[in-house]
Amino acid sequence: MRFSENSLFVAPTPVKLAEELAGWFYSQVFNHSNASKQYYIALSGGTTPVLFFNYLASYYGNYIDWSRIHFFWADERCVSPDDNESNYKTAYVNFLSKINIPASQVHRIRGEEDPEQEAERYAQEIRSVVPEEDNIPRFDLILLGMGSDGHTASLFPHQSELLSSEKLVETSENPVTHQRRITLTPRLINNAAKVVFQVTGFAKAGIVGEILQQKPESAQYSASKIKPLRGDLYWFIDAGAAKELFR
Ligand code: 6PG
Repeated sequence: MRFSENSLFVAPTPVKLAEELAGWFYSQVFNHSNASKQYYIALSGGTTPVLFFNYLASYYGNYIDWSRIHFFWADERCVSPDDNESNYKTAYVNFLSKINIPASQVHRIRGEEDPEQEAERYAQEIRSVVPEEDNIPRFDLILLGMGSDGHTASLFPHQSELLSSEKLVETSENPVTHQRRITLTPRLINNAAKVVFQVTGFAKAGIVGEILQQKPESAQYSASKIKPLRGDLYWFIDAGAAKELFR
């Protein structure tokens, strides 16, 4: 994993962070060198990306050739796509419905299906679309959030079997709500070229500080297991989430 000093971006507010991440995203996909390159990107769930989604659509929606981009998800709740809990619905309402992207390039996790069967199907869809490296699909970019318990995607605490899974996609369960989930595994995530955490809020500052300072106690958090093998890791955080960085 490469984590150089230019991989940490701190913005004063969640809005400014969304603006910074949207500009960074644009710079990543606006690649002069290869005008025909296709990009394979997995989106985070939760609420943190909403500002970023809206900003990306509003300010860059007309400047990016979306026909070169395939969107997947890092995880999904096992609900229907029109459920307010759906990560797909969050992205659709705030982003995908506002840009000109071919429907065939939006690869949602079908939360309405049987979780085990859908995990298998989604892994196959990823394998059939995303180019492989070392026999594992290699996303160009995976966007992740982090919960206040240090989980990322739907890799919750005390589900260590998921962290060492040889699969690309697994099922899991939110330990508090018992909501079934489908999630990419660290094996797949860590094969990406770039992984970006977008984290805001003081409530997450302690864990952000432990992970970024690579403190021993951070090993308990699934977010600390995200270490791209041949890729770059970026943290986009606001001032609240950065509060414990220099403790
Ligand atoms: C999900 C996400 C999850 C999320 C974190 C942070 O489906 O909920 O994938 O990993 O990114 O829980 O959630 P918030 O952005 O809502 O704080």
